[in-house]
Amino acid sequence: MTSLVQLLFALIACVLGALYLLGALRRRRPGEPPLDKGPLPWFGHVLEFRRDTVKFLQRMKNKHGDIFTIQLGGNYFTFIMDPLSFGAFVKEARAKLDFSKFAKPLVERVFSYIPLQDDHKFLQTSSTKYLMGDGLVVMTQAMMNNLQNLMLYSVGKGDHKTWQEAGLFSYSYNIVFRAGYLALFGNEPLNTCGNLEKAREMDRVLSEELFHEFRKYDQLFPKLAYGVLGPSERMQVMHLKRLFWNILSVQRVCSRDNISGWVKEQEQDRADQGMEEYMRDRYMFVLLWASQGNTGPSAFWLLLYLMKYPEAMRAVRNEVDKVLEETGQKVKIGGSLINLTRDMLLKTPVLDSTMEETLRLIAAPVLTRGVIKDMSFVMADGRQYNLREGDRVAIFPYTAVQMDPEVHPDPNTFKYDRFLTPDGAKKTDFYKNGKKVKYYSMPWGAGTTMCPGRFFATNEMKQFVFLMLTYFDFELKNPDEEVPEIDVRRWGFGSMQPVRDVQFRYRLRF
Ligand code: HEM
Ligand SMILES: *[C@@H]1O[C@H](CO)[C@@H](O)[C@H](O)[C@H]1NC(C)=O
Ligand SMILES: *[C@@H]1O[C@H](CO)[C@@H](O)[C@H](O)[C@H]1NC(C)=O
Repeated sequence: MTSLVQLLFALIACVLGALYLLGALRRRRPGEPPLDKGPLPWFGHVLEFRRDTVKFLQRMKNKHGDIFTIQLGGNYFTFIMDPLSFGAFVKEARAKLDFSKFAKPLVERVFSYIPLQDDHKFLQTSSTKYLMGDGLVVMTQAMMNNLQNLMLYSVGKGDHKTWQEAGLFSYSYNIVFRAGYLALFGNEPLNTCGNLEKAREMDRVLSEELFHEFRKYDQLFPKLAYGVLGPSERMQVMHLKRLFWNILSVQRVCSRDNISGWVKEQEQDRADQGMEEYMRDRYMFVLLWASQGNTGPSAFWLLLYLMKYPEAMRAVRNEVDKVLEETGQKVKIGGSLINLTRDMLLKTPVLDSTMEETLRLIAAPVLTRGVIKDMSFVMADGRQYNLREGDRVAIFPYTAVQMDPEVHPDPNTFKYDRFLTPDGAKKTDFYKNGKKVKYYSMPWGAGTTMCPGRFFATNEMKQFVFLMLTYFDFELKNPDEEVPEIDVRRWGFGSMQPVRDVQFRYRLRF
């Protein structure tokens, strides 16, 4: 008899446990944000979220206002859609809102990489040293060296003055990826290649192959991150990962010339901490991914907008010419290649505004933190909400602020001077409800996880545009072609990609 009762209790416990896991028992408690569990048990809204994050969050915002909790794949996410309240999200102590709890399983699934306890600290230290300040001077030189190898190796050889046709997205992503990769991971070693010319040729050939493989992984990435790959895609991802771990193995990378301090020091730190070599190989791929997945696509949109908006093109071209003139440099036949330094890149407010406007339109990360313990969240207008331990809190600045017509009037239109004051300086004053919006555009995220590569990335894109403008004539094949739509499957993952490429032609001017 007693055993039957025990069995009954066990059964009831199982059913309750299952219901709990499926989310059926979750109720909105007093003081919590509106709760919307979605149509499916456990999965909640994940299908609609994944289909088009922007549309979905807009719908939720219209329904619930600027804070609400939704169920997504077994987790509860509270979205804050009021940009004036972003500060409270960004600045909350890590003891309450922490990113690593959320990021760790994702990094493990996507890269099979298991971080060290102090992983993030090492990343931040090296990034501050090598991707900012004086370190950036070195990186800018390395980037320039590699851009010139990829873009200008035929200058003066006289055989490339004919028009070449290409897809603008493929072209921009290709060049910026390869030059960025070479600048960070170093060049083919001189001593095994024999001479510099051979080494540079090997750099061109091998980086092309790497880019080709990277794009395959890139295209599978959204599905991989959501954990919805089909069986053959899963095989393909495994194969690609092995390939990258091999090409980017510690052994191979460390034998290269000109390897950046950013890569070298992080490798050294992890070796010193006793991380095994196979895991450090995997970390190399994490670094490649983090550093190369966004810059190329952003450079594409930047060039495309310049070509679609002649007024912007004129303004940027004038500025570029002026900067060159001020440093006494002229691009001419048979002359030496221009030396574009970081200092020159600090004198380009028009290009900066054009870049910021581009990123406002096409950079759309979801920023997520885990709630470490029960807490209350205070909105800018004073409303308070309770958040539960174990839930997630997220912001999606693209919908919440970058496309808010009150903050950025006529938000769907590209305006190259949107981030310029009337006297030509950087504009930082934007308002909503008469209040100043500090976080008026967030392509790089914010707070502890803010992109540590943002200054380098900005420089990479500027250098690319600089070289395009000074060494090439280029134009859209069909000047009337519309700017393509954004591929909605990538919302939430950094810089967006277009649904189709745009044909253009280019030729060396010299
Ligand atoms: C246009 C180009 C880029 C964009 C739009 C971009 C954007 C972002 C965003 C939104 C994040 C996540 C922020 C968060 O979760 O709060 C991030 C993280 C990161 N980015 Fe970038 N990024 C770009 C280029 C780069 C480059 C060139 C590098 C390195 C050279 C880089 C290195 C990283 C790293 C290492 C992280 C992880 C930071 C962390 O976990 O704390 N990024 N980036
Ligand atoms: C290493 O970098 C320097 C300076 O950027 C460059 O002159 C040199 O050619 C590079 N080495 C190789 C093997 O490309
Ligand atoms: C470019 O200019 C900087 C600063 O003036 C100088 O330090 C550097 O050596 C120059 N590089 C080349 C390749 O001329």
